[in-house]
Amino acid sequence: MFILSCAIFQAFPVSSSNNYGGLFPELYQISCPQANEIVMSVLEEAISKDPRMAASLLRLHFHDCFVQSGGPYWEVPLGRRDSKTANFNKANVNIPAPNSTIQNLINLFNKQGLNEQDLVALSGGHTIGMARCVSFKQRLYNQKGDNLPDVTLEKTYYNGLKSICPTSGGDNNISPLDVASPIRFDNTYFKLLLWGKGLLNSDEVLLTGNVKKTKELVKSYAENEAIFFRHFAKSMVKMGNINPLTELKGEIRNSCRRIN
Ligand SMILES: *[C@@H]1O[C@H](CO)[C@@H](O)[C@H](O)[C@H]1NC(C)=O
Repeated sequence: MFILSCAIFQAFPVSSSNNYGGLFPELYQISCPQANEIVMSVLEEAISKDPRMAASLLRLHFHDCFVQSGGPYWEVPLGRRDSKTANFNKANVNIPAPNSTIQNLINLFNKQGLNEQDLVALSGGHTIGMARCVSFKQRLYNQKGDNLPDVTLEKTYYNGLKSICPTSGGDNNISPLDVASPIRFDNTYFKLLLWGKGLLNSDEVLLTGNVKKTKELVKSYAENEAIFFRHFAKSMVKMGNINPLTELKGEIRNSCRRIN
């Protein structure tokens, strides 16, 4: 789906003084004024065919790319180019594990220049998408190496999860990260955390991890969707500006699956 956009954007982007580490929203204003519409229409088509695509793209952004549609809206600084290398191990080393503790999460985000607010706001991306059983199994059966479940899991939710994710096998079975509204971009994810219905350990600990700041943010996003949307948009831009490759660095892949 990116083939279309990647090829078109090969055109000469305008250069400008940098706002966001070399990225800026008007990059294609002259070379490809219809760039935004092209991207949005391709995305809308893909997401209408398969709602999971929205979550996959959001996840992709964490691994190095862009865009999102529905719910919050913001202007995306453009010009983030593709890497000339691809490294499976590197791609995963800075991604928080699903069983991360609150301190793991804060440390990983800090390393990328992101703070607690970015952590909680971006975790709200789990308002859509699914996770595999292997990512939450530990919580159901052996949270602390004691063969007991995570006590913070709400009882009926826990029983439902056990049927999706048995003690052995079923590792690829999937469950929604936001069980109440799995394909709607809203603040339900945070309400679920308050009810003990966060799917991953790395979700629930935002509330239960005994860090005042993250706990308070979960509560305020659960109460006020507008604040969540505003912070989410801000943090998405901030994340998109992490170590970008711009201008002559990197390349624009003809096929996003491989280097040119
Ligand atoms: C998370 O899971 C990994 C792999 O199963 C394990 O090695 C690690 O100890 C777990 N971390 C925590 C905090 O439970």
